Amino acid sequence: MLVVAAALVPPAIAQRIVDYVFVPSVKEGNFSSRTTLLLSLIAALVVANVLRAGLIFLRNNMVEVYSQRAQRDLKQRLYDRIQAQSFGFFHTTRTGELMARMTNDVEMVRGLLAQGLLQGASGILFFIGAAALLGVLNWQLALISALASPWLFMTALKLRKSMRPTTTEVRAQFSRLNTRVQENISGIRVVKAFMRHAYELMRFQKENTALTAARNRNLAVWARYLPALEFLSGISSAIVLLAGGWMVIQGRITLGTWVQFNGYLWMIVQPMRTLGDVANQVAMAESSAERLCEILDRRPAVTSPATPRRPEHIRGEVELRNVSWAVDGHEILKGINLRAPAGSTIAVMGPTGCGKTSLVNLIPRFFDPDEGQVLVDGIDVRELDLKQLRGSVGLVAQETFLFSDTLYGNLTYGQEDAPIERVREAAVTAQAEEFITPLEEGYETVVGERGVGLSGGQKQRASLARALMKQAPILILDDATSSVDMETETRIQQALRELEARATTFIIAHRISSVLHADQILVMDHGQIVERGRHAELVRSGGLYAEYFRVQHGGRGGNGDAAGSGGRDGGEHGTHPSATGAS
Ligand SMILES: Nc1ncnc2c1ncn2[C@@H]1O[C@H](COP(=O)(O)OP(=O)(O)OP(=O)(O)O)[C@@H](O)[C@H]1O
Ligand SMILES: [Mg+2]
Repeated sequence: MLVVAAALVPPAIAQRIVDYVFVPSVKEGNFSSRTTLLLSLIAALVVANVLRAGLIFLRNNMVEVYSQRAQRDLKQRLYDRIQAQSFGFFHTTRTGELMARMTNDVEMVRGLLAQGLLQGASGILFFIGAAALLGVLNWQLALISALASPWLFMTALKLRKSMRPTTTEVRAQFSRLNTRVQENISGIRVVKAFMRHAYELMRFQKENTALTAARNRNLAVWARYLPALEFLSGISSAIVLLAGGWMVIQGRITLGTWVQFNGYLWMIVQPMRTLGDVANQVAMAESSAERLCEILDRRPAVTSPATPRRPEHIRGEVELRNVSWAVDGHEILKGINLRAPAGSTIAVMGPTGCGKTSLVNLIPRFFDPDEGQVLVDGIDVRELDLKQLRGSVGLVAQETFLFSDTLYGNLTYGQEDAPIERVREAAVTAQAEEFITPLEEGYETVVGERGVGLSGGQKQRASLARALMKQAPILILDDATSSVDMETETRIQQALRELEARATTFIIAHRISSVLHADQILVMDHGQIVERGRHAELVRSGGLYAEYFRVQHGGRGGNGDAAGSGGRDGGEHGTHPSATGAS
């Protein structure tokens, strides 16, 4: 506002300079007083300009600070929303796409807040201020010169509207390019191993070219409108020159007034000429904002109930009642029934893709089943506080993931500042300590993206230690020892059994040796549990499990070593009579 006011002063001074200095009405006016007048008016002009510059500086700073703050808050809210989404969202949304929204689209919106609104607001203020002064100076001239402005506004509005489709396309294509880059870098090993870098380069080039093409289409729309805007604003000045010149000739206004008038008119015309830019910016920010709202308005599929039940202590009994789950009409789990008493060990086996991971993911509510119930300690998990439920489940996911952080930081994830003794304990149980201690920096070794590379089996053991740190009543090991040698695996299982507070443990595995000691072995096929029982029973029954056993242990039927030890163990640990299933 002040900036506009300050900008309105110089034309008024110019008018006085022209009228009193250049064209002195008093012909014989003395020379020195004209010089003084000129000098003092120039001085006033300089002051007005300095004032205006200072105000502009202040205003731009304020706008910048404000828009940066808005950007920070927006990013924070987006991140919060993304984190709150359930698994289905991450199955269908790509990382590169989310990154593009988090960075590029947020920046677009900020750009509009900072520059666009600034230009728009000061344009409007200039328009009002200058138009008012114009009216006061000479309303006839003002009216004449305003002739072109409705057209100008209409054109700008139309420009914004016609730019929308192409801007949206630019944003979408940018996301695609981003996804390509992200996937390529993450999968660089595959790319190199298959010597596909020329091919990847070509695919990148395709997306990159498509982005340029989309931008060009976008710019073409803009370019079509620009001449019209320029022409209309040019016409305004021509009209003023014509009508104003005529009025000066007629002696109805002084030359100075005309100069002042022209000064104000420029203030109106100038922002109008930038209307094209503003319209462009608005169009871009609109499509970005739309993409951001898609995330902000997206309610997570799994949420904590409004009035959750909060049992004081969770023992870890798990039950699935007639659970079914389908994705796009494709049935992934069908009529699953199982009961795991607190502290028991349940093994899940079955061909790949049969639904093992899906089954255990129901327990921490990574998604909810379409039919049936999942119960923990007899309470439907949908009635439990989500935080408490997830806090009660220790998980080693099938795909191990460590953060770029120290081993200590990774192991204490979610338990910051846990004493190192506890970390060691967990690491010993997970048989991770044996590879951590020899490392030069021990627990302070940075792993993950930029740190040392751990082997697959080492990563799995670190993840297991991290899950154990939680000391949760339910423990899920999804193929958690698949990369660990059999001997180490046996030691891990031994250590897990010896833990004081034994968690209800779900072990998903493909190796018979991993499931030998389970209280209950479930064999799945095509989303159903087709066999259940202990090792010895299942071997005898001659089904899918017996077939696995035959293949893995050289066809010696029930007489092999493994069967022998399995049988013994089954006897030793047969302390859970109810573990034989409740279907
Ligand atoms: N969110 C999902 N959306 C669509 N399909 C899914 C989803 N999750 C799993 N599936 C499908 O469900 C089936 C079972 O998958 P799941 O990961 O449970 O198998 P699995 O038994 O753990 O296999 P593996 O032994 O290879 O780990 C697969 O066909 C998979 O493609
Ligand atoms: Mg799986």
